[in-house]
Amino acid sequence: MGKILIVDDEHSMCQFMEIMLAKEGYNVVSEPSANKVLKLLDSPESGEFDLVIADLMMPEMSGIDLLERTKKAKPDLDFIIMTAFGSIESAVEALKKGATEYITKPFQVDEVKHTIKKCLEKRRVIHENRELRKKLSESGGLAKFIGSSSKVVELKRMVERIAVTDSTVLIKGESGCGKELIAKAIHDLSPRADRPFVSINCGALPETLLESELFGYKKGAFTGANKDKTGLIQTADQGSFFLDELGNMPLSIQAKLLRVIEQMEVTPLGDTKRAPVNVRLIAATNADLESVVESGDFRADLFYRLNVLPILIPPLRERAEDIPALVSHFVKRSCEKLGCGIKRLSESVLTALMEYNWPGNVRELENAIEQATLLSTGDLINKNDLSNCIVKSDRKEVTGSQDSVLTPPLNVMEEAYILYVLNQTDWNKTKAAKVLGIDASTLYRKIDRYKLKEKAQR
Ligand SMILES: Nc1ncnc2c1ncn2[C@@H]1O[C@H](COP(=O)(O)OP(=O)(O)OP(=O)(O)O)[C@@H](O)[C@H]1O
Ligand SMILES: [Mg+2]
Repeated sequence: MGKILIVDDEHSMCQFMEIMLAKEGYNVVSEPSANKVLKLLDSPESGEFDLVIADLMMPEMSGIDLLERTKKAKPDLDFIIMTAFGSIESAVEALKKGATEYITKPFQVDEVKHTIKKCLEKRRVIHENRELRKKLSESGGLAKFIGSSSKVVELKRMVERIAVTDSTVLIKGESGCGKELIAKAIHDLSPRADRPFVSINCGALPETLLESELFGYKKGAFTGANKDKTGLIQTADQGSFFLDELGNMPLSIQAKLLRVIEQMEVTPLGDTKRAPVNVRLIAATNADLESVVESGDFRADLFYRLNVLPILIPPLRERAEDIPALVSHFVKRSCEKLGCGIKRLSESVLTALMEYNWPGNVRELENAIEQATLLSTGDLINKNDLSNCIVKSDRKEVTGSQDSVLTPPLNVMEEAYILYVLNQTDWNKTKAAKVLGIDASTLYRKIDRYKLKEKAQR
């Protein structure tokens, strides 16, 4: 309901307010001495107050001074000033200094009740919003990054600290170790969280396409440009822009990107006008950018611009303590996807997983679990369900090897998985498509391509 502190040197006023507000159901405390207020607000016995109502004219300290001091100590506390009728200037001053409302004396009881109710109601809404946002950032922020090894705890702490700054971030780490997840967490935990998060993979697109995607173009800028197109950097305006696989960015585009960073403006291809943009850049690379700079394939000036706050995600083999938690997360998810009960792992499986050196990091683990879940027949995942390279590997021998990433090709896994899901759903294709996360027409195409009907009849 709300806890209110009344501060007025006039004893009768304190008493009157106490009785009136208690009748309304508030928890009210009064204090005639302004000097004692700060201590009272801080004392653990008196608990948290929601609102202070103080008189303007008091012998020890003016209400405005008290307001200033209170706000300094407790910026979130609401404060109402009571002023004498006619002293509107001081009411305005109080509002400027952070008072939520003012009440002029002598007052109408109903009016005061209404003002207080409004003030506490607003406070409740703000508080609820804050909680909601916190929950949201917890679920969208670092909560998705599983792990509690000391290296991950340190990483998360660093991410939380960096997220609130507006600085450019460079995320470094081997393939599959969670760079994209961290980039998204930085955005989610930043003040830009409710603005767009736009990403581009600099390694996945040919140079000209990457350029037009990044910067956009005007109609007629090149053959095929039959209408204006906004670039992704501009789409991310006020939000964050994630440049994935930065090490693969062609030199010509690096020069243009540098201009965006230095001048905070974008010039679409074929345009003469520059458009201002305000984006926070987050970049990621699994290459050793310093040596790419040395070899001349990456501009040193751009590198220094981006490398303001480097974050290194340690490879999975350096934080094997995180493996059990990751495994149980992936098993649960795979089982949900397959629509089966949660499977357990035999102890030897977990040991093998902990001992393997994971050159493909968390992504490889994720795939390994998905495959093992799919292959296992009962509710226990056994060692034979694991890929051979994991079981047979010796941690030390494989260290440093980059090419022993999980074997079965994607199409083989896809085929097996689709057939599995179809069987699970009694060939109800709508249901199966839903489980698979693809649309029905794609499923029909895949059934044809893999000749699944024929295979199912065998
Ligand atoms: N700590 C983690 N907790 C849960 N899932 C994780 C974690 N780290 C990575 N993943 C999952 O592993 C996969 C790979 O992660 P991500 O794409 O972020 O890696 P990456 O470093 O960007 O890889 P690449 O260099 O190949 O682009 C994703 O499916 C991601 O959700
Ligand atoms: Mg990535």
